[in-house]
Amino acid sequence: MQDVVLLGGPGAGKGTQAQILMRSFGYRQLSTGDLLREHRNQGTELGKAAEGYMKRGELVPDELIIKMVEGELRGDSAVLFDGFPRTVAQAEALDALLQSRERGLPKAVYFEISRALLEERMLGRWTNPRTGRVYHEKFDPPKVHGIDDQDGGPLVQREDDKPETIKKRLDVFEAQTMPLVAYYKQSGRLAAIDATQGVDAVTHALLHAIDVDHGH
Ligand code: AP5
Repeated sequence: MQDVVLLGGPGAGKGTQAQILMRSFGYRQLSTGDLLREHRNQGTELGKAAEGYMKRGELVPDELIIKMVEGELRGDSAVLFDGFPRTVAQAEALDALLQSRERGLPKAVYFEISRALLEERMLGRWTNPRTGRVYHEKFDPPKVHGIDDQDGGPLVQREDDKPETIKKRLDVFEAQTMPLVAYYKQSGRLAAIDATQGVDAVTHALLHAIDVDHGH
């Protein structure tokens, strides 16, 4: 299996899909957002350096992110890059890194979805900070409000899922990450999927886009 970049705005469903593919198809999820939140919770130097940017909904500087990903890229499993790369400099660095490790260049899948739906998805999101499992109060509610169905742990709302920060994150995505659609298209590595559909339909489209045989 090939490494895959999940490319899409905040709230597009990248993490939701990465968790499904990880559980059912043996991919490894590498989410730079989750890794940064772990660093922040553990109070590491990187976590402290990243905190302000994350709170404001801005991107953490490329050099910090690239160094973090370099340290995380190990093992033979195909990787789903979730929330990375987010700038052209990060995409170039990822290509160079994968080539230096003799892994092929990744394919990118762009999650197409409107800004209004992204806002709605983020505003209703509840996450289990321990496992990364996400719920949505309208689209995928837990059986008991605030409690994970699977492990009974508490669900929290993310600090950056506030209306003002959501707007900033969407603006940053449009200005700094959208150019990656052209970056991957130019090298013939881009597939686009309709991310407005329900979770199962998006999984189906994603598996089709990355050529994984899923028995349908
Ligand atoms: P990060 O954690 O990456 O956040 P993000 O990109 O904003 O992505 P999200 O996690 O918000 O969305 P998602 O697409 O995973 O959606 P989800 O599956 O949860 O980044 C946070 C911050 O860290 C950044 O702002 C930045 O500061 C920093 N950072 C991270 N990476 C960086 C990098 N590479 N460079 C620089 N800075 C970086 O779904 C959302 C909701 O919708 C959930 O409630 C879910 O239940 C629901 N849902 C999902 N799919 C569906 C569906 N098909 N139908 C209905 N509901 C659905």
